[in-house]
This record gives sequence, structure tokens and C-alpha cells, in this order.
Amino acid sequence: MANLDPSSGKTFVVEHLDPELEEWSSLEYFTIASECHDAGAKFLLSSVPEELKLPANLQQAKGLTVEKRGIEEIYADQKEKVCLLDPAAATDLSTEDGDTFDIFLFGGILGDDPPRDRTSELRKKGYQGRRLGPVQMTTDTAVRVTRMIVQDRVPVDKVPYIDHPELKINKNESTQMPFRYVKGKDGQPIMPEGMVDLIVKDSEKGLGDLL
Ligand SMILES: C[S@@+](CC[C@H](N)C(=O)[O-])C[C@H]1O[C@@H](n2cnc3c(N)ncnc32)[C@H](O)[C@@H]1O
Repeated sequence: MANLDPSSGKTFVVEHLDPELEEWSSLEYFTIASECHDAGAKFLLSSVPEELKLPANLQQAKGLTVEKRGIEEIYADQKEKVCLLDPAAATDLSTEDGDTFDIFLFGGILGDDPPRDRTSELRKKGYQGRRLGPVQMTTDTAVRVTRMIVQDRVPVDKVPYIDHPELKINKNESTQMPFRYVKGKDGQPIMPEGMVDLIVKDSEKGLGDLL
């Protein structure tokens, strides 16, 4: 069991809000775990139903702590140290929030277009909320950007972003992702390993359904 004591560093918590754990989420969670591990941060995947069998990649993931308890139970006595990353919050996350909060909470939900505001399920719990700018991000991007702001102290508007990138499905078709990503050193949006292949596979299925 990893150390969950927030005094020893920043903790990033994704509260899993779906009954299932789709391949898309498992790629995102694996990436969050390895990036947090490399950055010396903790990653906790909370509210995972006992009966949910974790996919093989997550069973092996370095830096991942899985909890069946929810955020309210785990951090019952540290509510003021928890910051919910909330696309509907009135204030953007600042570098100084890194001094105020120790625990950063995200909704473990797949992005949707238009957004259905499922983050409201966590908002109801009464944590302080902060926004990461006006554009919807994937969960792994939201964790990456939060880490850059509170650990590396890069202001939210200085993070290099790519909005709504176009991915090529085949020689004739492409698909536009309705999310904001961080721009990598290669100029491409940072995505979990295997995600582009999964998107291509899913889009081909979708195209097949139309035929
Ligand atoms: C894929 S987003 C889900 C957004 C969504 N469509 C909804 O229903 O709320 C997953 C999580 O990433 C975080 N997130 C994504 N974009 C964000 C933004 N612009 N500001 C703050 N948090 C964000 C939130 O914690 C959110 O619950």
C-alpha cells in the first residue's frame, strides 16, 4: 500500500465514476500512473468497485494505488486540502494553489461532446474547485496540466496547448478530437501510448456501422 499521507507530497486522485473501466480509461490511467511516478507524485484511483477486474496493464502499473473507498472517506479529515479540478469553477488553478492544496481531485469519466457535466457528481461534495481554462481536457491531460501548474509552477496560460487536433484515420478520413491537449516536444498532442491506435480502431468501427 502506497503512503497516502499528503504531507509527503502532492497526491492526484481520480475518482472512477463509471461502472465499467473502458480501454480508453485504462490507457489514460496507466499514463497518469507512470507520469506521476516519474514526477515523484502519488496517484490514487479511488472508488473502484471491488468486483471490477482491473485490465492487465493497470495490474502491473508502477505508481498506481487502487482504492475501493471514495474520496470523502479517504480524506475525511483533510477536506480543505482537496482541490477539485472542475471545468465549471469560477477561478482558474494558479501556481500558488500548489501551496494551499495537497490533494487534486479529478473525475474519472470519459470526455464527451457536448460535455455532460458529470464533474457535478464530485462538485456536490463541497470541495474547493478550480478550472484549467475554458476548454475540456481528457483526464490524463487535466492531471498533466495540474502537475505542471502546482509542481513545476508553470502558469495555466503558459502551458503549450493544442486544441481539437485532427487525427488521420486512413488516407481519406480524419477525425477531430473535441479536447485540449498539451503540446509535446515533437509538436504533437501528448496522448497515452496506444490511444491513437484505439481511436483509429473505434473510428473505423463507426465508419463500418455507416456502411
Ligand atoms: C474528460 S473530463 C470530463 C469533462 C466532462 N465532459 C464532464 O462531464 O464533466 C474528466 C475530468 O478532467 C478534469 N477536467 C477536464 N477539463 C478540465 C478543465 N478545463 N478545467 C478543470 N478540470 C478539467 C475534470 O476533473 C473532469 O472531471
